[in-house]
Amino acid sequence: MEHHRSDALVIGAGIAGLIAALKLSPARVTVLSKTRLGKGVATDWAQGGIAAAIGKDDSPQLHAIDTQRAGAGISDRKIVEILTRDAPARVEELLELGAAFDRTAAGELALGREAAHQRRRIVKAGGDATGHEILKTLIEAVRALESIEVVEEVTARDLILEDGCVRGVTAIDNGTGAHVEIRADAVVLATGGIGRLYRHTTNPIEATGDGIAMAARAGALLADMEFVQFHPTALAIGRDPMPLVTEAVRGEGALLVNDLGERFMASVHPDAELAPRDVVARAIFEQQQRGRTVGLEAREAIGAHFPEAFPTVFGFCMAAGIDPRVQNIPVAPAAHYLMGGIAVDEWGRTSLANLWACGETSATGVHGANRLASNSLLEALVYGSRVASDIASARRRSKRLARHVQSVPEAQRDRRSPRTTAAQALSDVRNVMYSNVGLVRDEAGLRAALARLDDLNAEFGEDAGELRNLLVVGRMIAEAALARRESRGSHYRSDYPQTNEAFAKRSFTRLRSVA
Ligand code: FAD
Ligand code: SIN
Repeated sequence: MEHHRSDALVIGAGIAGLIAALKLSPARVTVLSKTRLGKGVATDWAQGGIAAAIGKDDSPQLHAIDTQRAGAGISDRKIVEILTRDAPARVEELLELGAAFDRTAAGELALGREAAHQRRRIVKAGGDATGHEILKTLIEAVRALESIEVVEEVTARDLILEDGCVRGVTAIDNGTGAHVEIRADAVVLATGGIGRLYRHTTNPIEATGDGIAMAARAGALLADMEFVQFHPTALAIGRDPMPLVTEAVRGEGALLVNDLGERFMASVHPDAELAPRDVVARAIFEQQQRGRTVGLEAREAIGAHFPEAFPTVFGFCMAAGIDPRVQNIPVAPAAHYLMGGIAVDEWGRTSLANLWACGETSATGVHGANRLASNSLLEALVYGSRVASDIASARRRSKRLARHVQSVPEAQRDRRSPRTTAAQALSDVRNVMYSNVGLVRDEAGLRAALARLDDLNAEFGEDAGELRNLLVVGRMIAEAALARRESRGSHYRSDYPQTNEAFAKRSFTRLRSVA
């Protein structure tokens, strides 16, 4: 691995990491990515778009109201206000960088509609390829800056903590297995989500909660870990991960029906198919529990326009032999997004000195108990930018930022558990998380999950791969879910089905023992 000097280290190359890196310019920044740039990144897969109050009938205040309503009473109001206030300017910056968002015939941004938004405010690209366009734009911008060095296919493993300060990370070169130590005074975790923890997920297999687990092991405060969002409509064709059927399809009027041809959402919620995501996901799950399968009927609402309106979804469907112009699209709920993560303040500062976090790996408090559709790309953009400006002011205050990258010469390969055993353990974790720590939870199931995770941790807690991180994150989610004895937003307890005002606050937690 080449050695270079830089001022800050950003771990993760999705929207959060790349915007932070860009905005740190002209400082010298190293971006670490465990994949090749642009690959295995949730950002690349984002379909629906990015929310911003841009329409003439819209305002940041209305956007804030919708965000807080989705958050089920525990979103941090100040953080929401920053998010919705800054949204239009951050979208404008993406346009300035060259992002080709969809426009109307009159040349205005074409704004889409999604569930629980009271206005059309979803900025999109290529119909349903928004994330891809944003990522492409950011990668081009990063590539054009000499001050940013991107180190690909190197996986961060643990934070280096000295005297209570984060000084860098240890990492492993995926190709050679060499141990690498990267030191920096400013470290940013932007490692994305945790979807791989669940048997059914829309996330790339790389979404293994590495940043959250690293921060937890180093003693950082985590927040809101019980809140895992399940997307109602992943394409149920036996693929892992499951391709997403964007909510915008329902936004354009598609209906959910079971295999008896019954439309069930109208009797579940006044907003029917456009009810909050957790309500729709649980309603579909309930249908499944009764032995029914569920399809999305888009013939009437979208019909022949499907290929132009939703080219990505159309491609997934046709590849599976389903023509959504004339057939129902089989759908099922899948783990999609973690509202919780590393607790950060309004500048993305974690509880550990010299460590910032942004994007899905962080918990700003904006999403509360449930995230409003298309607020995730936005949160990453807004708070990734704020992390960069906070680090820049810290640098101005102290001119002593320096870093060295050092390849440990006596590199060794990690001890690995036999592949089949680790693969079986991973499968166990994913199954127990989906069954017991998924859409519907109860005390007995959560305790059983914790016992299984602890057993697996005893055996695989030092695993060289991502299983080690998944076990930490799974445990933190299950513990937080056990402690919240109520139902709120995405967290549903069948033994405590009501919302309880005694729990109307965010949760904060630390890893009790080092895994
Ligand atoms: P990511 O984009 O996932 O990037 C994480 C980066 O961290 C990657 O580069 C990865 O390689 C790197 N990394 C991870 N671990 C390590 C490690 N140990 N060492 C080094 N590098 C590491 N949100 C919306 O707002 N609108 C949408 O329309 C939307 N649609 C979605 C559709 C799908 C299918 C999915 C899965 C999510 C969608 N979301 C959407 C959510 C949104 O895409 C993500 O929350 C967001 O992109 C996360 O960005 P990020 O930068 O935090 O993480
Ligand atoms: C979708 O397009 O339905 C996903 C949007 C999101 O997760 O915000």
